[in-house]
Amino acid sequence: MADASFAHRLPKAELHLHIEGTFEPELIFEIAERNKVTVPYPSVDALRRAYEFSDLQSFLNLYYDAMAVLRTEQDFADLAHAYLARAKGQGVVHAEIFFDPQAHTARGIPYEVVSDGLWSALRESERRYGISSKLILCFLRDLTAESAMQTLETALRHHGDRIVAVGLDSAEVGHPPTKFRHVFERARAEGLLTVAHAGEEGPPEYVWEALDVLKVSRVDHGVRSLEDPKLVARLRDEKIPLTVCPFSNVKLRVVDTLRDHPLARMLELGLHATVNSDDPAYFGGYVGDNLAGVADALALDDGTLATLARNSFTASFIDAPTRDRYLSRVAEA
Ligand code: ADE
Ligand code: ZN
Repeated sequence: MADASFAHRLPKAELHLHIEGTFEPELIFEIAERNKVTVPYPSVDALRRAYEFSDLQSFLNLYYDAMAVLRTEQDFADLAHAYLARAKGQGVVHAEIFFDPQAHTARGIPYEVVSDGLWSALRESERRYGISSKLILCFLRDLTAESAMQTLETALRHHGDRIVAVGLDSAEVGHPPTKFRHVFERARAEGLLTVAHAGEEGPPEYVWEALDVLKVSRVDHGVRSLEDPKLVARLRDEKIPLTVCPFSNVKLRVVDTLRDHPLARMLELGLHATVNSDDPAYFGGYVGDNLAGVADALALDDGTLATLARNSFTASFIDAPTRDRYLSRVAEA
């Protein structure tokens, strides 16, 4: 069995991380106080005790409520700095970070405030934390395609070059990837890469659509792909990476326990799986903790953990020379 310290110190890329999902209760209360807004929980402990979820929607309700205290550029910068500092302690050397602009613009926070705040932290990330980073703009799939298109146009006008890709998140079932066909076409025409949450709670058909319609470079989650052998063959043959989030899958009841998690089976099937933290402030751990957790629960050896770390870099959107430097660091770990 691999020891936790190896899982933590292995150099790794985090590819599935919602910055709003790194909002720890202590920082929620600190920022709420600064902005003179109230959190609908009496204390940090009471808030943390509320982190019991029955499914994705029950989590999203709390997630959107909590992020509503974020108002200023400084708030978004503080959020990103807090994540990067923690990520450093988890062996993260590269992070591709999701953000949900519509969850903020819908509350009257201008897109520029979100983007400039996050960027002020990310532009210092390499120097301060030794972490290279990229931003992925996610559309909320339970809002309309028109709202997503407007968000994309705003993002393209305001430092479009800060974004490497667009993604799709929020409530999956009932909101298939095809709903966003034109938005993703427009994004690709502007040179952006595409990813999408698919096969988390939604059926394998959504994963097919993400590939065929949205032309994604990676599938976020994708665990339900295993229900469809033809899809597994496609993902394997085309080496499509899956950004798997074990703690998230347990907390949101996609699987019963970590011991039931299909990660090991995915690797055995030849899938390009990576391990990620999704919303670590809510799901009980950051990416090194996720890796240590599956190592223990699924009896993964150090060689398998190193494979997962290598997979994270080969699935990332970094340039080839940087990727190769990171791969050498895995070999030396
Ligand atoms: N937004 C934040 N976390 C998410 C998840 N696990 N699935 C879908 N949308 C999300
Ligand atoms: Zn996610």
